[in-house]
Amino acid sequence: MDWKVSEREETGDVLVLPLWVGKNKPANSALNGLPRSSVINTKSAFKSRFDGKAGSKLSVWGEKCRVVLVGMGDLEKSSNKIARDAGAKTLSSLSKKDGTNLTVRFTTGWNLESMLWFIEGMMLRDYAFVKYRSKDKKEREEQGEWSLDIQASSRYLKELDVGISRIVGRVEGVHLARDLANEPPNYLYPMSYAERAKEWAKDKPNVVVEVYDWDDLQKKGMYGLINVGKGSSRKPCMVLFTLNPNVNSNARSPCIVGKGITFDTGGISLKPGASMDEMKYDMHGAATVFGLMHALYATGHKGRVRGIACLAENMPSAEAYRPGDVIPTYSGKTIEVLNTDAEGRNVLADGLWKSGEFDPSYIIDLATLTGAVVVSLGHEATGLWSNDSELLEKVHQAGNVEDEIAWKMPLLPAFEKEMTGSKIADVRNLGKSRWGGANTAAAFLKQFVPNRNFEEDGEQIPWAHLDIAGTAWGADTNAMVGHGATGIHVRTLHTLITNS
Ligand code: BES
Ligand code: MN
Ligand code: ZN
Repeated sequence: MDWKVSEREETGDVLVLPLWVGKNKPANSALNGLPRSSVINTKSAFKSRFDGKAGSKLSVWGEKCRVVLVGMGDLEKSSNKIARDAGAKTLSSLSKKDGTNLTVRFTTGWNLESMLWFIEGMMLRDYAFVKYRSKDKKEREEQGEWSLDIQASSRYLKELDVGISRIVGRVEGVHLARDLANEPPNYLYPMSYAERAKEWAKDKPNVVVEVYDWDDLQKKGMYGLINVGKGSSRKPCMVLFTLNPNVNSNARSPCIVGKGITFDTGGISLKPGASMDEMKYDMHGAATVFGLMHALYATGHKGRVRGIACLAENMPSAEAYRPGDVIPTYSGKTIEVLNTDAEGRNVLADGLWKSGEFDPSYIIDLATLTGAVVVSLGHEATGLWSNDSELLEKVHQAGNVEDEIAWKMPLLPAFEKEMTGSKIADVRNLGKSRWGGANTAAAFLKQFVPNRNFEEDGEQIPWAHLDIAGTAWGADTNAMVGHGATGIHVRTLHTLITNS
């Protein structure tokens, strides 16, 4: 999407006027640049039909420009969600057939923050995965990008320009995460993700991407990843991102770890057939890590940030790991495999342990980890667990700011006890019953969060776990997305990392 900011003078093919209740008879400047006939028609729409109620929309057709009045509801009730959703819904209602020059004009009641939210909603919604749809792909290429002219009173223009540049970088990151997650599993597998990461890093001087391939995993003893991935002809790998490796500071920096199962059949504990195709999204944690790294890079983040993607394809085969196996991990702890479909935790065990080597300020993992979290929270919220109350609160708040709700869940000692109660290994990869399955999964992960400097009696590094199984795709209440992957938590983590 091309964009610029300007004063309220001219209009494009379409003029979007988002208006608050009671502020729906705006000054004449709102209609600047329109032909007289359009001015008259729009004014009569103000008088008779349009009241600015939330969700209302009215189009006024004219020969030069179509005016779209968007009802924003009561200004007193305004929130980031309302403004962002309105922007997204507005964009999705427009057709490029009416012209691609779009003017969005902000008038009475709008402030810098709310304008940015509205534009962010529009930009986030401007996405479709048409790569493999011949007709749509051609049409999109022919119609070209939207070109957006954002208009407000002159005193806002400078800050709008800065704010929107930042939004564009974030949106690129979200769309990159969606692209990766939407990609079919025959095209996106562990080493192809790694190649994309390498390619992305190539011309960026302040970015390093390192890949541990099959041989490296063996040398390092990362048997969590190896075991989950060995049943597939597409071998597992670990991808390590570093943004700003050379910052001249001893300050600790965050490390973000993502589950990257490029396809989850369940393995020998095979899943039932219904909706199994959706398990291509089982690498959305790793997609978010990649998208986040891009968003941070594109917005010029100066601090050091690490990302770790744990990539494997979980397949049944003669080479596959099985229920009953005991597997060693990078941490030295052993796992009793009771169900090969509880594979995400096995690969994350190696990723979490690895992150301790960077002595990070905190570790956050993202994973489409359990069906149980979808039972608990539906598609409306991510499950959030943490061993540190301050980090827990910070992630929760960042989620609220971005309207990517991360709901606090309990990390109870009883769940840890359940998961460390194996008779023949250190940790079992399955709870004793199916109850509280998202909590037992979190309790499992906690066993692989290292103590500072790996000291035996030291304190555990602050860590938060985000179970995104319900929010990575499939939420029809998420106005930012038409279909498919959501790019969830790229914005949450961008805000968390850049605000602290
Ligand atoms: N990737 C799935 C979790 C999942 C299920 C995400 C449905 C989104 C929608 C994960 O690997 C898995 O299979 N988890 C099992 C764990 C169980 C065997 C303890 C599950 O949730 O059933
Ligand atoms: Mn699984
Ligand atoms: Zn999985």
